[in-house]
Amino acid sequence: MTEIAFLLNGTPVSLAGHSPTMTLLDWLRDTRGLTGTKEGCREGDCGACTVMVTDAQGSRALNACILFLPQLHGKAVRSIEGISGPKGEAHPVQQAMIDHHASQCGFCTPGFVVSMATAHLNGATDHDDQLAGNLCRCTGYAPIIRAALAAQSAPVPDWIKTDRDFLLAQIPSGGQAAGLRGGEPPQPGFRPETTQDLADWYLAHPDATLIAGATDVGLWVTKQMRDLSPVAFLSAIPEMQQIDDQGCTLRIGAGVTIAALRRALAPRFPSLGELLRRYASEQIRNAATIGGNIANGSPIGDGPPALIALGARLHLRRGDVLRDLPLEDFFLDYRKQDRQPGEFVEAVTIPAQAPHLRCYKLSKRFDQDISAVCGCFNVTLDGGTVTAARIAFGGMAGTPRRAARVEAALIGKPMTPDTAAAAAARMAEDFAPLSDMRASAGYRLKTAQNMLTRYAHDLNGTPVSVLEVRA
Ligand SMILES: Cc1cc2nc3c(=O)[nH]c(=O)nc-3n(C[C@H](O)[C@H](O)[C@H](O)COP(=O)(O)OP(=O)(O)OC[C@H]3O[C@@H](n4cnc5c(N)ncnc54)[C@H](O)[C@@H]3O)c2cc1C
Ligand code: FES
Ligand code: FES
Repeated sequence: MTEIAFLLNGTPVSLAGHSPTMTLLDWLRDTRGLTGTKEGCREGDCGACTVMVTDAQGSRALNACILFLPQLHGKAVRSIEGISGPKGEAHPVQQAMIDHHASQCGFCTPGFVVSMATAHLNGATDHDDQLAGNLCRCTGYAPIIRAALAAQSAPVPDWIKTDRDFLLAQIPSGGQAAGLRGGEPPQPGFRPETTQDLADWYLAHPDATLIAGATDVGLWVTKQMRDLSPVAFLSAIPEMQQIDDQGCTLRIGAGVTIAALRRALAPRFPSLGELLRRYASEQIRNAATIGGNIANGSPIGDGPPALIALGARLHLRRGDVLRDLPLEDFFLDYRKQDRQPGEFVEAVTIPAQAPHLRCYKLSKRFDQDISAVCGCFNVTLDGGTVTAARIAFGGMAGTPRRAARVEAALIGKPMTPDTAAAAAARMAEDFAPLSDMRASAGYRLKTAQNMLTRYAHDLNGTPVSVLEVRA
């Protein structure tokens, strides 16, 4: 039995007795009758279920279909029913949607409106990115974007501003309710507040499922109907959500979300920032963590190739035993990682500078799509000659992996397109990719080779992105 307290559309709610893996979407629709929040895909892809969640860190859009109730403890939630005012006043984005004829069948509209209201509150005007996680089958996006543009200068309504003030006054530490405190006996939804509590509990419960952002785990419940108990939620551990600037290195806590990572790293590593912009959608980036992306061990995750190219070290913890290893050594085989029972990812460390890092993501859609191939390149140059090379790919093998023979072929050479073409010929010695629904083996190999050529052009100042090339 867990107990969970949060604010729903301005009203406090307190829950007990729910399964820790009950989703907010099911709870809103089935127990509260709040059916404005729609169920489309139930896997984080369509945005029909978007809600606004506020805590001391701010407000963000999240997908309610893969958001478990304990993840909301101490926070404020606004469903579409809480976006209009207490007397039924339309939010500026709602009025703009009407004015710009931005809804036809209307199924997607509540999700769009919540995403737009959240962006409006945050002053975000990159509407294409903010709305890339909301899919519309009939209206077309132009009227929706016109509505977002029209509403952006309107003042934020008072009722939307109240959540944060209320939370800070009522639940100053983002705090704990009975039954969820760190250090207490195991609960179906354990919610530690410190890394030490997590380490102790996980050592005693090595078969438990750790849940960070639930953007992978959520689908185990909604698509595979798995019973995950016992579970521990990692989102209340502040230490794991920090990025520490240690001078020459940055230590990134496992609980840092992709959205926070993008904000922190894009100014240092613009190409990685662009990769993270295309990582899923706003809603997923707001939930997904870098620790989950690594621990999940997917061969097509976008984080590991970039981190391996940077020379990242992974920090693991089991009880009081700490160890660290090069990230590339963590991935042993398809979905098999070097992680012991009861051991978890605590952090990852990367160098603070990498002027020649470039990351290229190839997917069928530009936004909100998993990579077919993700290539990340990072050479060290001395007077134009390559003295060290780290090249890592996702989508080319059963694990994220370095291209060792290609790297060797670059060392001692000038980083020109000719050098790249010669080295690319060795790609087939490094990889024998698979064919699947995302790409054929031949396509993967060819595009990986082309990425190396692109990298050489990129370092030589030639525009290489579709966003840069002009007729
Ligand atoms: C619609 C959609 C789009 C997506 N698009 C992309 C994309 O473009 N690129 C991409 O790379 N991924 C994508 N993903 C996959 C997913 O978002 C990432 O893998 C994400 O980073 C997982 O992080 P999480 O915090 O949500 O992990 P969770 O789902 O909470 O956990 C994932 C796994 O990691 C384990 N885990 C979590 N934290 C730890 C820890 N600290 N120590 C040990 N184990 C841990 C969990 O037990 C579980 O096995 C997408 C997912 C969805 C649903
Ligand atoms: S129902 Fe599609 S993202 Fe939630
Ligand atoms: S209005 Fe029909 S799906 Fe968007």
